[in-house]
Amino acid sequence: MPEGQPAPSDGSLPEQARSELSLRPLGIYVHVPFCLTRCGYCDFNTYTAAELAGEPGSSRAGYVDAAIHELGLAARVLGGNAPTVSTIFVGGGTPTVLPPDDLGRLIAAVDEHFGLAPDAEVTTESNPESIDSAGLHRLRELGYNRISFGMQSAVPHVLATLDRTHTAGRALRAVGEAKAVGFASISLDLIYGTPGESSNDWVESLRAALSAAPDHISAYALIVEEGTRLAARIRRGELPSTDDDDLADKYLIAEDLLTAAGHTAYEVSNWSMSAASRCRHNLGYWRSHHWWGIGPGAHSHVGGVRWWNVKHPRAYASRLASGMSPAQARELLSVEQRRVERILLELRLADGLTTSLLTSTEKSRLVDLVARRLVVVEDDMLILTRDGKLLADGVIRELLD
Ligand SMILES: C[S@@+](CC[C@H](N)C(=O)[O-])C[C@H]1O[C@@H](n2cnc3c(N)ncnc32)[C@H](O)[C@@H]1O
Ligand code: SF4
Repeated sequence: MPEGQPAPSDGSLPEQARSELSLRPLGIYVHVPFCLTRCGYCDFNTYTAAELAGEPGSSRAGYVDAAIHELGLAARVLGGNAPTVSTIFVGGGTPTVLPPDDLGRLIAAVDEHFGLAPDAEVTTESNPESIDSAGLHRLRELGYNRISFGMQSAVPHVLATLDRTHTAGRALRAVGEAKAVGFASISLDLIYGTPGESSNDWVESLRAALSAAPDHISAYALIVEEGTRLAARIRRGELPSTDDDDLADKYLIAEDLLTAAGHTAYEVSNWSMSAASRCRHNLGYWRSHHWWGIGPGAHSHVGGVRWWNVKHPRAYASRLASGMSPAQARELLSVEQRRVERILLELRLADGLTTSLLTSTEKSRLVDLVARRLVVVEDDMLILTRDGKLLADGVIRELLD
C-alpha cells in the first residue's frame, strides 16, 4: 500500500471530490475477510477462523453489522449528492462463508442508505465448495443477480498445488445450480501458469470451464506473491518458478479457445459472451468511476480522492465502534496523476483509450508502437493488439516515458 497522508477521522471528503459525485456512477464494494482455509498463492486480506480466534470484534457473526455501520458513514459523508448505487460487488475472501441472509442484509442496507438502481448489478464471489443449491436460491431471492466462482483449474494436480479444496466437478456443478435458480450472469475465475501445469492441462481447464457455459470468464496469470507459502516452496526449490514465455503462450491459448467459443475479451484478463455480460462493477474501476470499498483493507475512490481502510478486522471493528472512520490513509490525486491513471486503466480495455488524453509527445510515440503492431488507432481510440496485450505494461511504459 502507498503511504498516503492521514485520513480525517470522520471520513469527510474535500468539497471538490463531492462535487464530482453526480458526474459518474457509484459502485459499492464489500470485502468479506474470511476463508475456510488459505490457498498457498493468495495474499489477499483474508483470515481463517483459527487466525482470528480470540481477536475481539472480529467474529464472522458481527461482521455484517460492522460493514453496515460503515455504509451509514459512507451515506453521511457523500450526502444527498450521491447517485443511486448502480453496482454492488461482495468479494473476498470468501463471502459465502457468511449465511446468505447476512449477505442479503448488505443489499438492503445499500438500498436504505443510497437507493439501489432498478437495473443494478449485484455480484458476490463464491468458492464452489462453500455454497449449495439452496444457498444459491436464497441469494437470488435476496437480490444477488451475478455470481463469480473461483474454479482456477480443472486438473487435480494443479488444484492440489494451489491448495484448492474443491474438485473441478464441484465448480462446474455450481454453475449449473446458479443457472437453475436464475442468476442473470455467472463467471468462472481461472488461473494459468501454476508450477507443473502443462499446456495440455491449461487447455483441459479452459475446455472444462467452457463446457459449463458461463457467460463470463476471468483468466489470470499466477502471480507469485512475496510472503506466501507458494513463494517459499519455489524458493526452496520444491516447485519450479513461473516462466514468462509459458505465461504468454497460455494467454494466447486462452484467447484462442475462449474466442472460438463465442467469448470476447473486453479487458486483458476478462472475457464475456456479450456486452451485457461484462462485469459493470469492474468496468467502474477501469473507467475511474466512484466506488466506496467497505471492510478491512478495502480501497475507495471518489472524485480523485483514493483511500484505504485499516487492514485487520479487529482494528476495523474497533474504529467503527468508537465512531471513527476506518480509513487509514488517503491520497488526493492531481489532475496529472488522474490522467496517467486513466491511461494505465483504460488501455487495458478492448474499447481502448481516447487519444485526446495523450500529450503531443505521447502521441508522437504512437507511430513506432503502431509500426510494431502493438497498438492500433481506430476512430481516435487507442487499442492494444493481441501482441500488445501480452506486453501491456511495457507498452504503457513506452507511451508514458
Ligand atoms: C481473492 S479471490 C476471491 C474469490 C474466492 N475466494 C476464490 O478463491 O475463488 C479472487 C480471485 O483472485 C485470483 N487470485 C488470487 N490470488 C492470485 C494470484 N496470486 N495470482 C493470480 N490470481 C490470483 C483467483 O483467481 C481468485 O479466484
Ligand atoms: S484464493 Fe480465495 S479462497 Fe483462497 S485464500 Fe484467497 S480469497 Fe481465500
